[in-house]
Amino acid sequence: MSTSISLQGKVALVTGGGRGIGKAIAQRFAEAGADVVIASRKLENLEAAASELAGLPGRVLPIACHVGRLDQVEHLVRETEAQLGPIDILVNNSATNIGQGPSLNATDEMLDKIVEINIKAALRLVRLTVPKMIERGKGSIINISSVAGLEPQPQGLLYSFSKAGLIMMTRSWAREFGPLGVRCNAIAPGLIKTDFSEYFWKNDEYRNHLEQTQPIPRFGQPAEISQAALYLASDEASFVTGQTFVIDGGMTA
Ligand SMILES: NC(=O)c1ccc[n+]([C@@H]2O[C@H](COP(=O)([O-])OP(=O)(O)OC[C@H]3O[C@@H](n4cnc5c(N)ncnc54)[C@H](OP(=O)(O)O)[C@@H]3O)[C@@H](O)[C@H]2O)c1
Repeated sequence: MSTSISLQGKVALVTGGGRGIGKAIAQRFAEAGADVVIASRKLENLEAAASELAGLPGRVLPIACHVGRLDQVEHLVRETEAQLGPIDILVNNSATNIGQGPSLNATDEMLDKIVEINIKAALRLVRLTVPKMIERGKGSIINISSVAGLEPQPQGLLYSFSKAGLIMMTRSWAREFGPLGVRCNAIAPGLIKTDFSEYFWKNDEYRNHLEQTQPIPRFGQPAEISQAALYLASDEASFVTGQTFVIDGGMTA
């Protein structure tokens, strides 16, 4: 019996796969044999990531897509299916954290943007990919939420609201699609060292605070999230659905 997890023969779509957590997930999937589409707005970043990941057992294919634009999301799914075949694994990872600050300063436009990128994109991608997963009786959806979706963050109402929404979508989809063979789980990272969290790891005061209070006293690395995504994507997790896996160095312990 092999002890390593295989995604051989599977097709994955990872939004925001050109850098940070999404890239680490794409890498782990391709190492496990999956063919992976990485999608985000900036094609040059995606192409750079794809060349870096060339030579792994699975192929990594870049497709430009603004996940807030329905026509681009439809094109993304069509192209993925045309080039690699039906999608087995969907990772909703792209996000924005626009609107950080006092909640009384949050505008309608900020709310619309957060919903468009962090919520609506996931809903659309599920709508476009899950029917074929159901036809084939199998599939895995992984939503990248955040500890901010579990605990309110200072100055972070809109982001927290969107990440909490994603957790409830995860649980609802798990209930609805479970009997049809499609699993849906979320990952809630704590602070992971990427462009997204730059404000925190570049801030000496915050870093000192984290080092004094967090059980594992450092920022996480994207690879520390990707291993959980690999498990959830794989058949090893065949009895796991509707869950939110917190990977936060003990921040919320
Ligand atoms: N880093 C952390 O501490 C942390 C903690 C908790 C949760 N998370 C979550 O982890 C996920 C990944 O974040 P990360 O830390 O890896 O950040 P990152 O390195 O900044 O990556 C974000 C990705 O999202 C893509 N993206 C942003 N807007 C997009 C849009 N409109 N359409 C398509 N793609 C878009 C970006 O690519 P383009 O710019 O090319 O579009 C980029 O690839 C996010 O859901 C975030 O909320 C991160």
